[in-house]
Amino acid sequence: MKRIYALFMASILTVSLAGCSTGSKTVSGTFSGTAKGMGDVTVTITLKDDVITDVQAVGENETDGIGSAAIEKLPPEMVSGNTINVDTVTGATITSEAIISAASAALEAAGKDPKDYQTKASASAAEDTEETADIVIVGAGGAGMTAAITAVNAGSSVIVVESQAMVGGNSARSTGGLNAAGTEAQQQNTFDEAAGVEKTLASAADKYADNETITALAAKVKDQWDAYQSNPSGYFDSVELMELDTMIGGKGINNPELVQTLCANSSDAIDWLASINANLTSVSSFGGASVKRIHRPVNAEGKTVAVGSYLIPILEKTLSDAGVQVMLNTTADSILVDDKGNAVGITAKGADGQTVTIHASAVILATGGFGANLDMVAELKPELKGFMTTNAPGAQGQGIVMAEAVGAGVVDMDQIQIHPTVQFDSAALITEGLRGDGAILVNAEGKRFIDEVGTRDVVSAAEIAQTGSYSWLIIDQKMVDASSVIQGYISKGYTISGETAEELAAAINVDSASLAETLKTWNAAVAAESDPEFNRTSFAEPLDTAPYYAIKVTAGVHHTMGGLTISPNTEVLNTEGNVIPGLYAAGEITGGVHGANRLGGNAVTDFVVFGRIAGTNASAYVK
Ligand code: FUM
Repeated sequence: MKRIYALFMASILTVSLAGCSTGSKTVSGTFSGTAKGMGDVTVTITLKDDVITDVQAVGENETDGIGSAAIEKLPPEMVSGNTINVDTVTGATITSEAIISAASAALEAAGKDPKDYQTKASASAAEDTEETADIVIVGAGGAGMTAAITAVNAGSSVIVVESQAMVGGNSARSTGGLNAAGTEAQQQNTFDEAAGVEKTLASAADKYADNETITALAAKVKDQWDAYQSNPSGYFDSVELMELDTMIGGKGINNPELVQTLCANSSDAIDWLASINANLTSVSSFGGASVKRIHRPVNAEGKTVAVGSYLIPILEKTLSDAGVQVMLNTTADSILVDDKGNAVGITAKGADGQTVTIHASAVILATGGFGANLDMVAELKPELKGFMTTNAPGAQGQGIVMAEAVGAGVVDMDQIQIHPTVQFDSAALITEGLRGDGAILVNAEGKRFIDEVGTRDVVSAAEIAQTGSYSWLIIDQKMVDASSVIQGYISKGYTISGETAEELAAAINVDSASLAETLKTWNAAVAAESDPEFNRTSFAEPLDTAPYYAIKVTAGVHHTMGGLTISPNTEVLNTEGNVIPGLYAAGEITGGVHGANRLGGNAVTDFVVFGRIAGTNASAYVK
């Protein structure tokens, strides 16, 4: 679908009559044009005697950390090259093209022909470079930036390379939040935990009686739960319950030591983020969690906001305040290993094709997974051929390939997660948080078909089995008022609305009596905190405030659980299970943490917990 349309408006300040090379009038002044990106993008160009002297771009609905990178990068390039023929930013193509279209409209508003501003700025020949640092980190997503901040604070010098034109990687797209057990913020909850805890204990006994780790965790949680019930105080959660949920979510194949590390450090991750002014204070339900455990940021009005676009700028600023060099558009292609087998740096391709060699005493790999490499996905899991992906373009799996070339082992490579609520036309992720906050899924017949807060594999499989393999996510105005994330979905055109259930049903072509009955039954289930139809145990508010909204969603590739084998200290292990000295990895590039299915909210925990461990241990190693 071509999204771009050009509108323009002019505010011509002065028009000089002096001639110019095209024979038209020479123009000075300021002119604006608007084009459609994720929302309206307006570009204001200042011309002095036909020469572009200033360009400003504004687009309030462009995605933070993605479209915003194009808004920062393209205008200065237009000025320095006196051109609108600038490269789009990888991963921010829609916003980049909108900026270029809006700039073209602004020139037309000035009475200039945009074709006269198409000279491609020629890149100067770049020379190969060599750098040295204590630690080189490959990837400036959540894990890489967390590791870098931790390593610098531990006294190491750090260089970060990033293949994309902006930092953030997949973490910038993360919308949900961070799972953490035993936090202060959880104590604000008034909902009853019993049904969720007991459902999990029953599931452990029914399905995992032969899994020793799950059985042992379930026994500990049962003791904790019994003790809590005999003297209830505060909201119940524990590290062991989070471990149990994560292991059951991962179908029991996760590496228990990595799960233990993840969960035991989760509450501390919240405190560490708070220490860099990143506060995740709102707690809610997410798929596969027995209790309310996902921690999310809120804005000044108290509305929940997307965790990735909140955290990434804070991590980026903390990194920049610490003076860490981040080399963008620099794609690592090999790990340097000395004759004793120690990792001692990397080579990379720079933005202009030059070779960048970075010598270091330790290497941390944080390149993310391979969810954007749909060929690799289909090769490893053929049934996912043709699926859309929610992933940022940099998630190509290149770090895994580089590490395997120096002997690293991999695990669970065919464990690839699909997420059930990906917007049908755009592949944009519609956060699971909406379901945790009370939304339901209905099929083309207007009926619920699953516990919406089940694990992603289960919800996705149920959705794929429905007519047309899609569903409608239903929300109401009360949910919209509480969430700037949903307000963003509305402004991006993802929602269809109706004043009543019947009106919404007509708008989405679903049987109206059926949808009205579904909402009535659901609201009764919320009031009773009991869902006899699908055994959902997590409830929020009823869906009873008009207008009502629907978003058409389907399943898309979301997370690759497989990756490099690591120790709980984030040391990369070779194919025999031995440490490769000096080589560390954190985040989605690693395997074993999430088993066969990652719980929503555990990826952010993963990047903070293991990013910190990698930064700390690599620093200790280089000393
Ligand atoms: O649905 C979501 O917001 C995704 C969160 C996650 O993958 O952790």
